[in-house]
Amino acid sequence: MTDNGKSILITGCSSGIGLCVARGLDARGYRVIASARKTADVERLRDEGLEAIGLDLDDSESIRIAVKKTLSLTDGRLFALFNNGAYGQPGAVEDLSRDVLRAQFETNLLGWHELTCRIIPVMRKQGEGRIIQNSSILGFTALPYRGAYNASKYALEGLTDTLRLELQGSGIQVSLIEPGPIRSQFRANALRMWKQHIDADNSVHRARYQAMADRLEKQGPATPFTLPPEAVLKRVIHALESPRPRIRYPVTFPTYLFAFLKRVLSARMLDRVLMATEGSGKTGYRVDRHRRED
Ligand SMILES: NC(=O)c1ccc[n+]([C@@H]2O[C@H](COP(=O)([O-])OP(=O)(O)OC[C@H]3O[C@@H](n4cnc5c(N)ncnc54)[C@H](OP(=O)(O)O)[C@@H]3O)[C@@H](O)[C@H]2O)c1
Repeated sequence: MTDNGKSILITGCSSGIGLCVARGLDARGYRVIASARKTADVERLRDEGLEAIGLDLDDSESIRIAVKKTLSLTDGRLFALFNNGAYGQPGAVEDLSRDVLRAQFETNLLGWHELTCRIIPVMRKQGEGRIIQNSSILGFTALPYRGAYNASKYALEGLTDTLRLELQGSGIQVSLIEPGPIRSQFRANALRMWKQHIDADNSVHRARYQAMADRLEKQGPATPFTLPPEAVLKRVIHALESPRPRIRYPVTFPTYLFAFLKRVLSARMLDRVLMATEGSGKTGYRVDRHRRED
């Protein structure tokens, strides 16, 4: 497809949703600046013909340089920003150290915030722009053992809701995408972070952790409702091209279901449903509710 004259910066393009959206928008005629934090991934992206740069969300200097490079490639303009790069830190809330929780917020919230704040003035000057935040079903539904990730995505939703109000009249549209289970490296990366940061052997949750790890290690789709990353690409395209982009884009059946249940059930009833869902393994991190803690 021919160049549509619109540029977009995407974070976290080494795998999963970021990679799929970078490829899909490139094929659709967008000027895609695909970013990844590891040099090898940047080179791999370049090898396949994408315009790629380094960007580590944990590093302010890396963000500054990435924005500078992006704007030098696009003559100082940027139509859209897709905030996407993130990871899930599994672990019971009582097993999260302050540093581990802080690290989750550094990547999933503060890096996105810093990057967004560097891009907003460019968009304000243009009088137009699209900011698309890849949130999650876990940005409005809590599940056991996802406290750190839940908190980072809930915080993202709050910050984004406020930002949207403050950008009214600027020509900048802000959308949240709320995927449920999507095929990507997310589970493999979450398992790695759990092993790295959680002292499972000395936890009261030890038995449950084992069931969770078995689930995360399992190959194939996490749940019967898992969709390919193209399901997110479809919503990103709408958020970019619709004259009236949506504020929230639910993706996958569980997201629609829990958004509905959250509206109609009492908080206590919803807790029961969430614990039953967790026990059934339909959420991807199965927890055996009947196993005794030792
Ligand atoms: N998969 C799902 O079921 C699901 C559901 C709801 C929401 N999401 C959201 O979708 C987004 C993409 O995740 P995914 O499913 O595509 O998982 P993924 O395959 O693990 O991709 C995550 C991407 O984020 C990057 N990343 C992690 N830390 C970073 C940092 N400090 N700086 C820059 N990039 C960093 C990763 O880079 P490295 O390769 O270098 O680690 C990778 O490119 C995330 O925001 C996630 O919360 C995913």
